Amino acid sequence: MHRSTLSRRRLFRFAAGTLVAAAAPKRGMIVRSTRAEDVEMPLEGFLESYLTPIDRFFVRSHHYVPTVDAAAWRLQVKGKVASPLTLSLDELKKLPRVELVSVLECAGNGRGLYEPSMAGLQWTYGSVGNARWTGVRLADVLKKAGPQTGAIEVLFDGADVAVGTQPEFQRGIPFAKAMDPNTLLAYEMNGEPLPQEHGFPLRVIVPGWAGDSWAKWLTSIEVRDTEFDGFFMKTGYRHPGKPVAPGSAVDPSQMKPVTSLQVKSIIASHVDGESVIPAATKLRGAAWSNESPIASVEVSTDGGRIWKPARLGKDAARFGWRQWEFDWTPPQPAYYSVMVRARNTAGETQPMTQEWNPSGYGHNVVQEVHLNVAVPGKPLPKPAAEPAQEVPAVVRQTCLGCHGEEAISQQRLSRTQWEREIEKMQRWGARVTPDNKEALVDYLSKRYPYRPRK
Ligand code: HEC
Repeated sequence: MHRSTLSRRRLFRFAAGTLVAAAAPKRGMIVRSTRAEDVEMPLEGFLESYLTPIDRFFVRSHHYVPTVDAAAWRLQVKGKVASPLTLSLDELKKLPRVELVSVLECAGNGRGLYEPSMAGLQWTYGSVGNARWTGVRLADVLKKAGPQTGAIEVLFDGADVAVGTQPEFQRGIPFAKAMDPNTLLAYEMNGEPLPQEHGFPLRVIVPGWAGDSWAKWLTSIEVRDTEFDGFFMKTGYRHPGKPVAPGSAVDPSQMKPVTSLQVKSIIASHVDGESVIPAATKLRGAAWSNESPIASVEVSTDGGRIWKPARLGKDAARFGWRQWEFDWTPPQPAYYSVMVRARNTAGETQPMTQEWNPSGYGHNVVQEVHLNVAVPGKPLPKPAAEPAQEVPAVVRQTCLGCHGEEAISQQRLSRTQWEREIEKMQRWGARVTPDNKEALVDYLSKRYPYRPRK
């Protein structure tokens, strides 16, 4: 569709004189959840353009997407500041306009690839995108309010409202990170007003850090002299910060907040098990990092024995991703293990085996795809489409009030994990009773048991 047509359709809907952003249409996205909206970019999205088009950009929402009226919207700046502020969008836009390109990646990107598996949205490769963000420096807003000595953290809250009895999504970042000139409050994405599901009218941009810090629909910024201990800081988005035995439970006191991204690269031009003809072919993908930009991308076509440099795309920005390509003529018909590995300017690279953590954050193992060069008829078998099955009444009544079945059916969980998941849902408002709990555990652990991905 022509870009300007798309933009006009998408941007603004005038309803009774109010200005709100309409939801963007999505192109071929992998749906992880319909309510709340969680969609993943398919592999071809990495190759389409340097900036990820908005209709290809992944969406991760803990709560349902709120509709915010921009005219009535205000941003509160409060807490340990000399002069608390209430800013309208127009007032905010009077501050110096700043623009940067940055990758936004969900902390849980790749969770669906972990073994053993864990509960959570089963993202594979595409809960990541690269966009141009325009807005103001968070530091400029904070300086206007005059932060007081002793400030250690800045807490964000948005217009979204929790589903059931799940705690509100509130996240904070250290005060020093908030004052970093690259930390922004953005009102535009790829040159258009922020789309509704990306946080209209204002979201936080924390380049180099995972998406959980990039709060959406921002309405309040609180400068604090103590660490906030709400659910999404104290319990959610934490990891052990060191390798732990796969499948083990980690003492909460040993867990640290998720912050910087991991250096990572993706092969997007080919999928595991594909057959290719024995002529010249181009391997392509993207690579990204944290505060230190990508220095190099290397490809191996022999299972990691020999690594050769890939060509990096000309588009580059400190926090943006690099597209890469590698010309390859397979020397003979065979079954090849093709791998890609990125390194950043700090010397960090990707591991050959994935370290495990309980919530499945920071997946960045060297990706391997097996390619069958002219060995006929031997692609890896694709799992057969599951026959549709009637959802039993107990699941429909107890589980499908807040979200759809897709949030449930993608899980690969043992009986014990299902028991824990159902208890979590009970805490979040599901009407699980001693009478129906057994039936739920029975059904879900048989229907959606742990199974290895391949
Ligand atoms: C009162 C609302 C509510 C009901 C009812 C409910 N859930 Fe949930 N469920 C949630 C919320 C909230 C989330 C997490 C959304 C987020 O943070 O992205 C969630 C997420 C999930 C997920 C995704 C993995 C995860 O933990 O985030 C699974 C699986 C799930 N629910 C299973 C169930 C099952 C099984 C039932 C029925 C026993 C159920 N839910 C009933 C509110 C509910």
